[in-house]
Amino acid sequence: MPVRYVPEPFRIKMVEPIRVLSRDEREEKIREADYNLFNLKGEDVFIDLLTDSGTGAMSDEQWSGIMKGDEAYAGGRSYFRLIQAAKDIFGYPFIQPVHQGRAAEKVLFSLLMGPGQVAISNMFFDTTRAHVNIAGAKAVDCVAPEALDPAVRAPFKGNMDTAGLERLIREYGREKVRLVVMTITNNSAGGQPVSVRNMREVSAICRRFGIPLCIDAARFAENAFFVKQREAEFANSPIRDIVKEIFSHADMFTMSAKKDAIVNMGGLLGIKSDEELYQRVKGNTISYEGFTTYGGLSGRDLEALAIGLHEGMDEQYLTYRIGQIEYLAGKLDDAGIAYQAPAGGHGLFIDAQALLPHIPYHQFPGQALAVELYREAGIRTCDIGSFMLGNDPETGMQLQAQFEFTRFAIPRRVYTQAHFDIMAEALISIKERAGAVPGYRIAWEPPILRHFQARLEPMGRQPGL
Ligand code: F0G
Repeated sequence: MPVRYVPEPFRIKMVEPIRVLSRDEREEKIREADYNLFNLKGEDVFIDLLTDSGTGAMSDEQWSGIMKGDEAYAGGRSYFRLIQAAKDIFGYPFIQPVHQGRAAEKVLFSLLMGPGQVAISNMFFDTTRAHVNIAGAKAVDCVAPEALDPAVRAPFKGNMDTAGLERLIREYGREKVRLVVMTITNNSAGGQPVSVRNMREVSAICRRFGIPLCIDAARFAENAFFVKQREAEFANSPIRDIVKEIFSHADMFTMSAKKDAIVNMGGLLGIKSDEELYQRVKGNTISYEGFTTYGGLSGRDLEALAIGLHEGMDEQYLTYRIGQIEYLAGKLDDAGIAYQAPAGGHGLFIDAQALLPHIPYHQFPGQALAVELYREAGIRTCDIGSFMLGNDPETGMQLQAQFEFTRFAIPRRVYTQAHFDIMAEALISIKERAGAVPGYRIAWEPPILRHFQARLEPMGRQPGL
């Protein structure tokens, strides 16, 4: 049964032209970019699925908020409006705006942990992991085992493995484990949600051991929508009640507002009851971000964010948003193309290893598919696999990732049905000639976060293909 496309619950009032280059031009551009999609110019991309972060379309309400932004250095109206919105939605009394998600991580984590200590998550996002490491601590992932098999369809593949969490806390010792982080939805596992039941269990474990629980809340509204769809207890609950419930189980949150709050720049940090910690957060914010009532943002950004927080929880919008990704997934099901199933909240993570079985992990199947999608249709995606993971810092050897995904991250309120058809058609066409798709070798790489800058070369075609 084909999945029906859910119509956009908006009309388009402003447009931004995009163009598709010819196949020859695309060949030339990707060669000039050394087969690294981060090196492409945005204007040479037809459908840009590199990230869903900061790439959404703001509403007319948000744009009118931009005009009303109060740019006072201290105590601006827009600040108070944002604080009120965040307090109402999340139920936390202490809220600090910052310029984006990783700024919240930077401001908070060094206050909670240091060398020799540990933080455990259902899965850390790269920057979150980096800030745990910058604070001197070790970041340990503990995702539910069903997440590790893309073909297994389970309702909450983003969950924490609670038995594993308890085991890790006992192994490291409760005094060493300084923070537990629940990433909702679980980005690195494919935008997979976390259930309220799992939140409750993790929260109970944290309370028992006296460890604070932090939500990495970038996609909190998409997670709440999945809870409503998949967790019977919440089938009739409004999204905002589910959000309140989820946040009630944690002690603090960091948030990149560039995702579910549908702004191009912004972040938040919230603390439930530890006022002393909040004071120290304010101190770090002033040092790193700016005065507490703007936190590295313009007044107009605060205003757009206050509005976007509410818009991102609108159920009709979420039905359309998740529906777009399910529509694409349905087309891939019909074509026998594997992905992290079921469809994620912010995108579809294609199982590049299943599509390109002849390419070993050290020739980067996720990256090979990403390059091919640009060649085929001017679509820009990214590797979430061994190419992104990099080398072992001690031995310098290429690490093997648990997945070899090519991520289709879908910007919010930006692309329409025909774009989704093109995405599916491009993948189907690549599948038909999959055996001829080459792997890649690295010609040059920087020592850290190499995937943003590395230069690549295609491997020679294999004999007989
Ligand atoms: N946490 C999660 C779960 C994220 O997905 C991101 C960003 C961050 C934190 C950091 O937020 O970018 O505002 O500093 N994810 C983007 C992505 C970049 O493409 O998945 P930021």
